[in-house]
Amino acid sequence: MLPPYHHEPFTDFSIQENRHSFEKALLQLERQLGREHPLLIQGEEIFTEEKIISYNPAKKDEVIGVVAKANKELAEKAIKSAEETFHTWKKVDSKERASLLVKAAAIVRKRKHEFSSLLVKEAGKPWNEADADTAEAIDFMEYYARQMIEIAKGKSVCSRSGEANEHTYIPRGVTVTIPPWNFALAIMVGTTVAPIVAGNTVILKPASNTPVIAAYFVDVLKEAGLPPGVLQFLPGSGEEIGNYLVKHPKVSLITFTGSKEVGTYIYEQAASVRPQQTHLKTVLAEMGGKDTIIVDKESDLDIAVDAILTSAFGFSGQKCSAGSRVVAHEKIYDQVLEKSVQKAKELKVGNPALHDTNVGPVIDQSAYDKIMHYIHLGKTEARLVTGGKGTDATGYFIQPTIFADAPPTSTIMQEEIFGPVVAFTKASHFQHALDIANNTEYGLTGAIISNNRSHIQQAKEDFHVGNLYINRNCTGAIVGYQPFGGFNMSGTNAKAGGPDYLLLYMQAKTISEKF
Ligand code: NAD
Ligand code: ALA
Repeated sequence: MLPPYHHEPFTDFSIQENRHSFEKALLQLERQLGREHPLLIQGEEIFTEEKIISYNPAKKDEVIGVVAKANKELAEKAIKSAEETFHTWKKVDSKERASLLVKAAAIVRKRKHEFSSLLVKEAGKPWNEADADTAEAIDFMEYYARQMIEIAKGKSVCSRSGEANEHTYIPRGVTVTIPPWNFALAIMVGTTVAPIVAGNTVILKPASNTPVIAAYFVDVLKEAGLPPGVLQFLPGSGEEIGNYLVKHPKVSLITFTGSKEVGTYIYEQAASVRPQQTHLKTVLAEMGGKDTIIVDKESDLDIAVDAILTSAFGFSGQKCSAGSRVVAHEKIYDQVLEKSVQKAKELKVGNPALHDTNVGPVIDQSAYDKIMHYIHLGKTEARLVTGGKGTDATGYFIQPTIFADAPPTSTIMQEEIFGPVVAFTKASHFQHALDIANNTEYGLTGAIISNNRSHIQQAKEDFHVGNLYINRNCTGAIVGYQPFGGFNMSGTNAKAGGPDYLLLYMQAKTISEKF
């Protein structure tokens, strides 16, 4: 029997001893950089001629690792392996599958700083962000293990005299996991172990910017005792391999987390029934956000500023949950803006391997170019009040940037920038603020900073976001506490880390016996 679930505590880096152990872990990791990692099919490690090279976004020429790169033949082999293994894996007792996740969680917990150091190096995360990413990965494993044990009990339905009825859940089959690079460990782990514990087999195609941390995690699952063929590790190009897997007739479910563009494309492709396909595919698509923080007339402005800064600039704004729009009541607008600008100027931008860095790099050249393009555009749409500059000389660094007086329908208020950029706009009354907040194609997260109970109630009813936060930042959902997922073009609202999530990887079977 497992003890009740509690989320993994974050490391307190104000304690010197913790800082020293993290520095030690970073130094140890340095010695492991540049290693070659194989792909994995039916338990066989395969090194390929073609490779994916992973670089440190804070130090462009530092190679984090070299990872084998799959082609279509290997993708086909991976599907066959997953298909064959499904017949045995689905019969493994759910408690055994759950205990495997608990073992894997224990291994990651033991090597917590090693994983977090790798996130610092490969994804450019500052220490606290890396530590939270690793904690979330542990949480997903611990939480889904317990959820699976509950689900395996089935749900009660009515029986009557001479007839016994059962309502059970069975797995779906071969599933494909396509994660993003921004929660390179947590989301990759969550969307890999959920289908596995539910009894499916998985083909994991990691994000090409962060394949090394995925390779490390594959080794953890092997060490925890995952049988060969349950997980195939298939790094490769999204357009080539990702696409091939999505269209394959033997795949039953695709769990995707990433941009709206790729997510909607996958959704459309998976809807087509192809020759030899015997089922309709399910797509879980968790996509982007354009998330708003509303600051009400009656509110604690220090809480507001703290929420804005954390949401907008945490991990350089590279979160689907990032607060990239602030809608402030006209009475307090100037004050909130001024305080936010002041605080933004205090943030230290630089190498995330250093403890006092607040804002690290963005992930790569194309992200850098895209964000700088939005900043240039923003200058024509609104008033730049701080930041706006970047350098891609040695790594991809962009200053925390704030625009003021952005028209609600301007591009910088509508499109996901996915960088350290936030735009402010004024509202004349609370309903006006809500209207502006709801006026995007997304519906992922949102926050309201207010001391007015009736406004809080109104926001609960009418702020159309999957995750609404009151008097705090709009990032940092915790597994088992704040199930995560959004509405509209933010995706299919899977609610990762919530009580209904695993059911999405299963199908219900009703059994009725006469006696
Ligand atoms: P992306 O869409 O560029 O890539 C995501 C994954 O899709 C990668 O593994 C990529 O290789 C793969 N891919 C690309 N083209 C493909 C294709 N044609 N077929 C199949 N797979 C393909 O996204 P990204 O840059 O890795 O991540 C950032 C995006 O993810 C942002 O939009 C962010 O908001 C979103 N995101 C959403 C959530 C959420 O829970 N809603 C969480 C994190 C990130
Ligand atoms: N789950 C992540 C957050 O809440 C994306 O910030």
